[in-house]
Amino acid sequence: MPLQFTWTDYPEAADSPDFLSGATFEPPLPTDFNHLLIKGDNYPVLKKLQKDFSGAVDLIYIDPPYNTGNDFTYNDNFKVRDGSGEADRHSQWLSFMQRRLLTARPLLKSSGCIFIAIDQSELYTLKLLCDQIFGEENFVNDFMWLHGKGKKDTWSRTLQQHTLCYARDKKQLPAFREIQQTDWATTNADSDPRGNWFSGSISFTEKRSNPNHKNYYSIVSPSGKVWTRQWQTDEAHMKELIADNRIFWGQPPAYDKVPRVKIFNEEESEVIPRNIIEPKETTRAAQHHLDELLGQSGAFDNPKPVSLIKHLIEITRQPKDALILDFFAGSGTTFEAVCALNAQDKGKRRSILVQKDENGIFELCKKRCQKVSELFEQSAALQVEPLFISFTH
Ligand SMILES: C[S@@+](CC[C@H](N)C(=O)[O-])C[C@H]1O[C@@H](n2cnc3c(N)ncnc32)[C@H](O)[C@@H]1O
Repeated sequence: MPLQFTWTDYPEAADSPDFLSGATFEPPLPTDFNHLLIKGDNYPVLKKLQKDFSGAVDLIYIDPPYNTGNDFTYNDNFKVRDGSGEADRHSQWLSFMQRRLLTARPLLKSSGCIFIAIDQSELYTLKLLCDQIFGEENFVNDFMWLHGKGKKDTWSRTLQQHTLCYARDKKQLPAFREIQQTDWATTNADSDPRGNWFSGSISFTEKRSNPNHKNYYSIVSPSGKVWTRQWQTDEAHMKELIADNRIFWGQPPAYDKVPRVKIFNEEESEVIPRNIIEPKETTRAAQHHLDELLGQSGAFDNPKPVSLIKHLIEITRQPKDALILDFFAGSGTTFEAVCALNAQDKGKRRSILVQKDENGIFELCKKRCQKVSELFEQSAALQVEPLFISFTH
């Protein structure tokens, strides 16, 4: 019998199709926008977004309540008593997440993916839930990040938080890459005057190559050996690399090794990203950054570091005009990460953030978005101010 994963379901009013009959966005959702910040419960909002944004979103990043049972600036306790009076820590959280993830999945493009931040309170239930919703075959990885000194108890110090990543369809998800500056090359096999280098892969094996791909072509080694396969760069760029003696063909006179690209120390290279991330900022630094930006201390608990979300967006290599959705916006870190990345690479990524009216958090998020917009409008001449929208039903 296949794995059964069940829990007590907790229905919500928005399950009913009638719930949306009188629902509106105020002002109405524009067709053309840079960024939207929507005030409302994300479940009905996601349902409503399906009309216009089905298959339109490149990347979703969410950081839902972890169900730690703690009392934060937002509710993080889903503990209830079930019908028989038993305390149930997980069912209400799972019911809540299942509805939102099921509704969000159709918004993703077939080449898109979702990142879901979580800690150990619900990591293992979330993995099973996501396997049900997105398919186990679409699991990409758990991108763990080291968030500071760690969360300690009597027995251990937990250094990582988790970010589960699933593709809408892994076969269509672009390969993830991370840019790294090389400093580890210690050899120079062909005495290149530019110094030490290492060789990186620049092709797919013949078996894995797609003959219909635009980068499927032949190149010829100095000894006349023909290599026909799918390359990771186009033919014009390959010709430049060959002319610049940046392709290593193996030692003379045979020159018979699979061609690889030479990467010198101090140069940037694209590598497959590690799933353990050491962000430049810790949770504490992220909190400090937010406090400074808002000019008030401790107004929001547990903001994520901007550099973490920026890194996750970057490694996916989604297009520079990607549409990015965060429907647990919190203080709006995702908005700042999108703006920072656009400023860095002159991208035109757009974002939709959803945050419910909880404990003043929407207003706080709005204030952060305004501050961030001012900063980036001045420094990078970007048109970034989001449109603020309310969802009512
Ligand atoms: C962990 S926080 C997100 C923090 C965010 N990543 C940041 O860096 O600021 C989760 C947020 O989701 C919001 N939230 C919880 N349930 C929601 C719902 N049903 N609809 C919209 N927002 C919700 C909470 O108010 C809280 O602000």
